Amino acid sequence: MVDTYTSKVAVITGASRGIGYNVAKALVERGSKVVIGDLLDKEGEAAAKEFNDKAGKHVAAYLHTDVTKYNDLIALFALAEKTFGSVDIAILNAGIAGEGAGGLFTPLDDRADMFIHEVNVGGVVKGNKVAMLHMAKKGKGGVIINTASIAGFSAMPSIAAYCATKHAVVGWTRSLVNLHSIANIRVNAVCPYWCETDIIANPGNDVGRRFLEATPKTTMEYVVQAFLKCIEDSDLAGETLLVLPDGIHVQENYVPPESCFTPEFLEKVPELNEAGEKLAKEKLIQAVKAAKL
Ligand SMILES: NC(=O)c1ccc[n+]([C@@H]2O[C@H](COP(=O)([O-])OP(=O)(O)OC[C@H]3O[C@@H](n4cnc5c(N)ncnc54)[C@H](O)[C@@H]3O)[C@@H](O)[C@H]2O)c1
Repeated sequence: MVDTYTSKVAVITGASRGIGYNVAKALVERGSKVVIGDLLDKEGEAAAKEFNDKAGKHVAAYLHTDVTKYNDLIALFALAEKTFGSVDIAILNAGIAGEGAGGLFTPLDDRADMFIHEVNVGGVVKGNKVAMLHMAKKGKGGVIINTASIAGFSAMPSIAAYCATKHAVVGWTRSLVNLHSIANIRVNAVCPYWCETDIIANPGNDVGRRFLEATPKTTMEYVVQAFLKCIEDSDLAGETLLVLPDGIHVQENYVPPESCFTPEFLEKVPELNEAGEKLAKEKLIQAVKAAKL
């Protein structure tokens, strides 16, 4: 029987509270080990202690981690490997909304405008690369899950910058579909609709508050189930799972129109795919060697 959880080690960012915390809890309840990386040390340490106390053994660890920094992410994944032996599941979930989420009418400030992109996109891109290198080094493959959002698909004028970051997470995740055949790593994204957590507690203005009060929401239970589905369903790679008020929906991928596929081009595609996969495998071996993780 395939062991989905009990011998598995998961790294989860942004899991001191909210969605990440609930996913970590579900994984520990199923027998996995978890290593949490977050900025909220008190809450993160309390979560790890709660999981360890409940299990009666060492199943969880916490490390202060800023997902915008490679050094922090490298230390987080190294802790997982040192403490529990490997990294099998990586969940890049840390994200922010708040003041920078709109972005359109704020001052013209290089640093302030890019901050939400550094956390929501940078944290995912950097986290995925560190996770991939760890998994490829061991040669066992693994599962990577990125937290995107319904804002990765819908246009949301009042939170345009947040929306852009989540569209980026969707595009990045879909583009990693080939890691499945290259390194047996499945990368998918969970895209929740509004869910009651701290990130939507302070919308910053009255219109936002009234919108959030009025809109239907999804449940934390559905959101957690979507993460578990990404882990359990071995067919899922490069997919985006919407978590809506009525449950989980696998979003169809975009298929370009017929004019993009001439017969001459289609004839070359299998050969190009094969060559691309060969090149990617070589580059991955070099990347693992160079990173020395
Ligand atoms: N709650 C929702 O309605 C909703 C909907 C769609 C997507 N999401 C996404 O879900 C993810 C989790 O959010 P949540 O709803 O649990 O909110 P939350 O605010 O409770 O959790 C976010 C966590 O990320 C951490 N974090 C923020 N910046 C960080 C950084 N630089 N480095 C490390 N950790 C950092 C926070 O400290 C916090 O623990 C986010 O990516 C969010 O965009 C949430």
